[in-house]
Amino acid sequence: MPSADAPLLRALRADRPETAPIWFMRQAGRSLPEYRELRVGTRMLDACLTPDLAAEITLQPVRRHGVDAGIFFSDIVVPLRLAGVEVEIEPGRGPVFASPIRTAEDVARVTAIDPAEVAAAAEPVREAVRLTVAELDASGTPLIGFAGAPFTLAAYLVEGGPSKEHLRARAMMQADPDAWHRLAGWLSGVSRAFLQAQIEAGAAAVQLFDSWAGSLNPDVFRRFVAPHSKAAVQDLPVPVIHFGVGTGPFLGDMRLDGVASAVGVDWRLPLDEAAAVVGPDTTLQGNIDPALLGAPWEVLEAHVRDIVERGRTARAHIVNLGHGVPPETDPAVLTRVVELVHSL
Ligand code: CP3
Repeated sequence: MPSADAPLLRALRADRPETAPIWFMRQAGRSLPEYRELRVGTRMLDACLTPDLAAEITLQPVRRHGVDAGIFFSDIVVPLRLAGVEVEIEPGRGPVFASPIRTAEDVARVTAIDPAEVAAAAEPVREAVRLTVAELDASGTPLIGFAGAPFTLAAYLVEGGPSKEHLRARAMMQADPDAWHRLAGWLSGVSRAFLQAQIEAGAAAVQLFDSWAGSLNPDVFRRFVAPHSKAAVQDLPVPVIHFGVGTGPFLGDMRLDGVASAVGVDWRLPLDEAAAVVGPDTTLQGNIDPALLGAPWEVLEAHVRDIVERGRTARAHIVNLGHGVPPETDPAVLTRVVELVHSL
């Protein structure tokens, strides 16, 4: 068990540890030479479903950077693969589906799969989490599990692959609301099953990634998306972090009526302004601009100090980036940012 006084878990409970906890979205992966070496010859989704490999990749950045949490190495499309949906991750591109889900008939076909299939097929995920947690426990470092939110998953599934504006998913919502709600409700069940598998095996917190929610109008987010995201994480036995890019216009709704203990903020919105919006019952996570990881150290240091200062206006603060680590980042810079935050 990670200690209940682990700084990350304290911050999620509204407490303010002596130093702010810090971890990085996409800390496991391409910025690390040891990751690139381990991945040679193995496809992304095969790596995710090979327990000792997934555990080792999850642990690499924790050992190297001394961050306050591990983020489980997997992908938002893994539960869809476990459900039997044909999907691959193309290097440099992202998730690609053999059969996009575009019509009411497509939706009926895919939603006929029982989300319980995900739980039944998730043994490699549970095993990878168990292996990871067995090593993290020695230092009391918690493991964060995660899943994709229904809208971000649909943005890939309806399109059939990565897209900039997610036009097809956004059109489906309003052109055929019945089909949309059926699909989003099913994706919510699939992500929930994936989260539950990670929690059963020892994840101490979870993050729901609605990375592309910022492409939505606030009213559309409230009506077509938030209820399904809330259903994915409601009444889980561990704290929930809810993250999206560009969600400033509806940041209060990202609280999911208080189901989320913490809301992730991207680099566009200063944390003191975010704190005023989410109020006294929500921890904030963020929001170092990933672009500044490549700037001179003096520039990055001033930026990180400013973020920690503004974070003091929230009920509690978990330092992170505003989005994932860019693959070209020098890992030594990440280690230095961790040391700086732990010194403040
Ligand atoms: O440290 C971590 O965060 C590792 C775990 C993780 C991965 N993907 C590993 C991964 C997490 C939490 C994700 C979530 C994920 N996957 C999201 C939400 C987070 C976000 O960044 O907004 C999204 C949108 C995806 C879909 C996806 N998977 C994309 C867009 C890509 C990049 C494609 C590319 O090559 O540019 C992936 C692949 C992926 N997922 C990689 C990793 C380490 C790269 C695979 C490789 O090394 O070849």
